[in-house]
Amino acid sequence: MTATSEFHHQDILALGRQLRPAVIAIDGPAASGKSTLGFRLAGLLDYLFLDTGVMYRAVTWAVLAQGIACSDEAAVGDCAHAVDIDIRAPGADQQDGRHTTVLVDGRDVTWLIRAPEVDRNVSVVSAYPEVRRALTTKQRQIAHRYGRGDADRPGIVLVGRDTGTVVVPDAALKLYVDATPEERARRRHRELEKQGKPVDYDQVLADMIRRDRIDSERAVAPLRPADDAIRIDNTGQDAGATLAQAVRVLRQKVASD
Ligand code: DC
Repeated sequence: MTATSEFHHQDILALGRQLRPAVIAIDGPAASGKSTLGFRLAGLLDYLFLDTGVMYRAVTWAVLAQGIACSDEAAVGDCAHAVDIDIRAPGADQQDGRHTTVLVDGRDVTWLIRAPEVDRNVSVVSAYPEVRRALTTKQRQIAHRYGRGDADRPGIVLVGRDTGTVVVPDAALKLYVDATPEERARRRHRELEKQGKPVDYDQVLADMIRRDRIDSERAVAPLRPADDAIRIDNTGQDAGATLAQAVRVLRQKVASD
């Protein structure tokens, strides 16, 4: 991995232990590489990785599974409060490429929440204020516990759309990861092809632009960089280079505190 050859792992672990609060917030649009970056950075720092997007996906999956219409805002809001979402590190028997295991009412939905039907509806579901209230509260509780050093890991990396602006505005480090819509659509298209789900590139690009618009124009917690976020544009850059850039930013942050 580029970052480990460029920087010593022990050195990076030490950086993570100096960050106060030990909370890193990474936001950005779909397929910007924020989850890959967050997962790898959390691994280097031995921090918990919390992808907040999977929680919105889990609620959307539960809504669809229960036959609730996504347009029924009140019923969707009730479902978000009622559903039991559990996010865990993958077990030894779950090494199938997942970053986290997602359970909804005890059922493993890790791959089900990636279905195209969830993709199509998640932006609408996640724009409802009651859904955001339910999930933001859960995310904040977890983040504060880890940030205080009261947990099984020395810190936490949160990834999403509003983690730096709304969930943990007091995060010690905020990153905003972005790439052009065309590059992000190419990545998503490649991912779907690899999963044996061939789709038209133009359709993927159109869906991406539609979701970007809904996510950034919604009234509550729209996608936008926090004023104090460091921006990383990784167009034409691989995941290793993005990780190395983030580690450099973290080093500068700790040195300046
Ligand atoms: O990162 P993702 O594509 O898995 O996110 C799925 C959806 O969840 C995305 O369309 C917007 C929403 N989301 C959100 O509104 N706030 C977050 N903090 C994370 C995701």
